[in-house]
Amino acid sequence: MKKNIFTVLLALFFYLPFIKSQTAWLDKLNLSSMTCGWSTPQVDKSIDGNELSIAGEKFNNGIGTHSISTFLLNIDGKAKRFSAVVGLDDEANKQGSVEFYVLGDKKILWQSGVMRKGDLAKIIDVDISKVKKLGLLVTDAGDGLDYDHADWCNAKLEMSSKVDPKTLTAQIISKPYILTPPSPLKPQINGAKVFGVRPSHPFLYTIAATGKRPMTFAAENLPEGLSLDSKTGIITGKVDKKGNYEVKLIAKNSLGKAESNFKISVGSTICLTPPMGWNSWNCWAEAVDADKVKAAADAMIKTGLINHGWTYINIDDCWAIKPGSKDSLTSGLPRNKEGMINANKKFPDMPALTNYIHNKGLKIGIYSSPGPLTCADYTACYQHEQQDAERFAEWGFDYLKYDWCSYGNIAKDKTLETYEKPYQVMQDALNKVDRDIVYSLCQYGMGDVWKWGNDVGGNLWRTTGDINDSWTSMSGIGFNQAGHEKYSGPGHWNDPDMLVVGLVGWGPSLHPTRLTPDEQYTHISLWCLLDAPLLIGCDLSRIDKFTLNFLSNDEVLAVDQDPLGKQASRIYNEDGKQIWAKEMADGSKAVGLFYTGVESKAKDPADYFNWNKIPTKEKITLTASELGISGKFKVRDLWRQKDLGTFTDKFTTKVPYHGVVLVKVTPEK
Ligand code: GAL
Repeated sequence: MKKNIFTVLLALFFYLPFIKSQTAWLDKLNLSSMTCGWSTPQVDKSIDGNELSIAGEKFNNGIGTHSISTFLLNIDGKAKRFSAVVGLDDEANKQGSVEFYVLGDKKILWQSGVMRKGDLAKIIDVDISKVKKLGLLVTDAGDGLDYDHADWCNAKLEMSSKVDPKTLTAQIISKPYILTPPSPLKPQINGAKVFGVRPSHPFLYTIAATGKRPMTFAAENLPEGLSLDSKTGIITGKVDKKGNYEVKLIAKNSLGKAESNFKISVGSTICLTPPMGWNSWNCWAEAVDADKVKAAADAMIKTGLINHGWTYINIDDCWAIKPGSKDSLTSGLPRNKEGMINANKKFPDMPALTNYIHNKGLKIGIYSSPGPLTCADYTACYQHEQQDAERFAEWGFDYLKYDWCSYGNIAKDKTLETYEKPYQVMQDALNKVDRDIVYSLCQYGMGDVWKWGNDVGGNLWRTTGDINDSWTSMSGIGFNQAGHEKYSGPGHWNDPDMLVVGLVGWGPSLHPTRLTPDEQYTHISLWCLLDAPLLIGCDLSRIDKFTLNFLSNDEVLAVDQDPLGKQASRIYNEDGKQIWAKEMADGSKAVGLFYTGVESKAKDPADYFNWNKIPTKEKITLTASELGISGKFKVRDLWRQKDLGTFTDKFTTKVPYHGVVLVKVTPEK
């Protein structure tokens, strides 16, 4: 026996130095499953892209993130210690407050307490030798996400055996899967069934139709003043006389003919269905320029998205002059001698750009702020509102996103009157120009904007802060829209922010959205049920097959564009399962059955993570009584465009984790 022990000790003595422990640095791991409440996690930088810095102490190595942030790692007992230095980044302001947690198999191993700006960095060094799953969490410390720029500096795991750190991420890997069948080759007319225009204002509408080309178009009963280009399907002109005109649209090709009723409403209300299009922010942010905008328009045509009703090409922030900029492309005189706003050199010829877009049958949007500067510090409209409205109209813009930003420094208090004022001023200015400009209010939901956005002429208003491509952000925003439905309708829509699908990244470098395929189906289904404006935030010129496929489902898009304009209500919300239902003009209901999982209701730190093997599917039952109907009803799967049969009293289906089954329910007479 003694001899045996001696042999073992001797062997250990010889071999121990050769069993190398390995360091797995957090910034070298696959971070695609790290969630972040705003923007995307940054490697070796703060969330805003600056040097990592906590109370003046600088770090070269680490991850800059934003509450609420989660990251779950599969350690499987193969790591010894986790160490890091954490704190709120110096770039945050006083509003920021976060709390860091390290959890091992649901137990809290380390907790920072609330940390604010200027608090000295805290050192973490914990034993994780028995841990199977390690959870890294940053919460908002209970007071909301504002300025929660949280840094995990010098963060690393000491591994007890050699493992490939890339395999540590406990992420749900699922491959994109295509649900939308290809569009038929016979003509099919898609898109809005109603369209509003003001008397004597320029009219532009492109008949959205799929099917084999060449295709010819016709329209019966077009009001006087409008004409149709039979080759392109583009209708232009001006109608002087108010009224509702019932038009028949016709599309023909070698395989057949499609007809569709279309109502042109000439009056005071525009934007009768939620706008559908593209916006530059989620992909390019400050890296936007005229060529990228043109490329988006080209792609809208080339991919065929225009044939499904996608229309707007919207420039977001960063087209104006940036006072104090050292970059020759963005510096210069903010306004000309007459006080008219100038574009920067990245947009050398705005009228040529708007013309380019209009000639393709598309529309174009622009962005500004009621404050002196936009959110990215470019010149904005303060005290030049009328001139700017005129400039936007003269340049040929069809849409204005008007973002609060630096108006925060002008606003004297937080009363309703103060919130409304700048938006009313711009609305009055827009009313004086002879062009229809869709008016998009962006002020992140302050003062319950949904209650008064319509009164100040808003056609849509953002109900939330900025979205990003994480489940926490998208689902947090989307599923929190319950209760807003009574404020939405034709001409005035709730806006839960833009779509985070495809290649996004807030420019110049982009990455594929971090939403799983099921999460993306949830995103689009929910936004359509919510009658949300649908603004694609990706680089359209590099759109992948999967993204293009789900943005081309006409039955799903028809839910968003339904002429009744009734936003869905949540009719069921239990145990991580939700059902949302929306009344449709044809008497049917569009219904989304969502399996969100329970983590969105997290109260304890451990609840932010899915520790157990995730159930891939859950059964959800929709009852007729929840829908306010009785007896038999037909069910059609809208993503698959397939009838599922006739059901009595209830319908049960299996829904993937973080996914959706979107159906149309038609009561049988
Ligand atoms: C934010 C706005 C974003 C984007 C950005 C531009 O305030 O919510 O959607 O427009 O400003 O700086």
